[in-house]
Amino acid sequence: MELVQGIRERRSIRKFKNMPVPHEVLMEIVETAAYAPSWKNTQTARYLVVEDKDVLKKIAAKECMMNFAHNVDILAGAPALVLLTTVKGYSGYERDGSFSTAKEDRWEVFDAGIAAQTFCLAAWEKGLGTVIMGIFDENKIAKNVNLPPEQQIAAIIPIGYPAAEPKAKVKKKAEELLTFI
Ligand SMILES: Cc1cc2nc3c(=O)[nH]c(=O)nc-3n(C[C@H](O)[C@H](O)[C@H](O)COP(=O)(O)O)c2cc1C
Repeated sequence: MELVQGIRERRSIRKFKNMPVPHEVLMEIVETAAYAPSWKNTQTARYLVVEDKDVLKKIAAKECMMNFAHNVDILAGAPALVLLTTVKGYSGYERDGSFSTAKEDRWEVFDAGIAAQTFCLAAWEKGLGTVIMGIFDENKIAKNVNLPPEQQIAAIIPIGYPAAEPKAKVKKKAEELLTFI
């Protein structure tokens, strides 16, 4: 798939076929996502794939989704859920532990955002649908998966073979987004 075609044709997918995602495919996707740029090449993004039905059910509970039924429904139909986590304390920091810029540790979520889109595009190229989700209770989910304390969840990404072909969302025109000085 051409790069620009992939960027333009990717959609957020919220309905999935009842088919598992092979581990070797996930490995290839993460191998590609590893090429995402990051703060001083710190590469703090990690991908924790939840496939266990009991753990998925606990995460799909409304308390973990901040009572947002829309996200509960998406997770209930997903064969796997990627927890995109970051290793804390590197992105945005100097070696002595001080912040490099006024954005302080916010470069960590910036890096996670780049990793998320790179992961989703690599998944799309493999015929897999994803949706990046931001509405969730990160502490409750972290408890359910015994997340190591040095990591935190940046986003959650259900993944699977698409069971729907949503139309493209309307996107702003370049003239509205682009300014020259
Ligand atoms: C940071 C972020 C958080 C999001 N959170 C959610 C979410 O909690 N639930 C959901 O269904 N979609 C979520 N989305 C998906 C957006 O709604 C979606 O990307 C947007 O509507 C554009 O659609 P498209 O991805 O198909 O172009 C999120 C996307 C981003 C980037």
